[in-house]
Amino acid sequence: MTNEKNPLGLKKIHHVEFYVGNAKQAEFYYRNAFGFSRVAYSGLETENRETTSYVLRQNRVNFVFTTPLNENHEAADHIRLHGDGVKDIAFQVEDADYAFNEAVKRGAKVAIEPYDWKDEHGSVRRAAVKTYGDTIHSFISYNTNNGHNYSGPFLPGFTEQNVAGDDVGIVLVDHIVGNVELGKMNYWCDYYRDVMGFERYITFDDKDISTEYSALMSIVMSDGGHNIKFPINEPAEGKGGKSQIQEYIDYYKSAGVQHVALLCKDVMHTVQKLQDNGVEFLRVPDAYYEELPSRVGPIDEDIDELKRLGILVDRDDEGYLLQIFTKPVEDRPTVFYEILQRKGCKGFGKGNFKALFVSIEEEQRRRGNL
Ligand code: FE2
Repeated sequence: MTNEKNPLGLKKIHHVEFYVGNAKQAEFYYRNAFGFSRVAYSGLETENRETTSYVLRQNRVNFVFTTPLNENHEAADHIRLHGDGVKDIAFQVEDADYAFNEAVKRGAKVAIEPYDWKDEHGSVRRAAVKTYGDTIHSFISYNTNNGHNYSGPFLPGFTEQNVAGDDVGIVLVDHIVGNVELGKMNYWCDYYRDVMGFERYITFDDKDISTEYSALMSIVMSDGGHNIKFPINEPAEGKGGKSQIQEYIDYYKSAGVQHVALLCKDVMHTVQKLQDNGVEFLRVPDAYYEELPSRVGPIDEDIDELKRLGILVDRDDEGYLLQIFTKPVEDRPTVFYEILQRKGCKGFGKGNFKALFVSIEEEQRRRGNL
């Protein structure tokens, strides 16, 4: 419903689309390493002469991996500049035309004017606006009163495919973090406030999250229902080294999505499966687990098991969360994933930042980027 708190009528994150150099291999990686299933496909065999896209689904998470088939497609420029990365955080909305017009009226820049997107299963309306870097937000609506209705497996142009992955228990996108340029954090927070009606949910400053080098500042923007959470990070001055946020921007060549946090119900089970599948995670020093009981108090999980798997714990007034971060999943040190389970806690793991950043700096040092 559109109202002051949800002026665009956002319903949920419909999907996240990545532009990648080789979608066939990305599909194989996310299916075999992360346990997604391939549910839909678009490419030469479906009369798509421009791109190939694979839709991967795990419970309520939909990822689309798209590669250009021609050098003059905009995805080719995107990949040349950024490497593999997130192009589109797409929302399902009540009415794409309304969401688009309202967003533009509120100051968003146009990416794609509203159009009918159709195939033999019906049509949807789609439009898009720009956000940080070359990232966009699509607005997609079904069943509008203009008679649009869609019954296909995903979106128009996609054919159904059923190649099951071994589900690892990833359920939902919890939050998606954007890294923006030095001095631009407030600009983009204002954008989410003014355009989307989001509120400031939590702020972290460099006291929370600075180590000797890897300082950053972060504000979490969220919709009124706290279903969609977009933390925005900017680099902060470290003591002589390079902020991890600046390292990202130097390699992504602009602002962009830093990590997608995937919520699961049993983090120990999920992380065990991901590790068995070869997903590489950041590790913190063993001393972290010696300090853990005094820092977070009683928890249900066995600390030796958490230590074995490398899972981190943090607590707020309402409960605790368990989280772990992958290493970047591209050769450029850019996009990575967080796997987390919430047990009442609504935070983002502030108490873990310091230990984590020491590990991230160690990786940066190995890359010669500190
Ligand atoms: Fe996160």
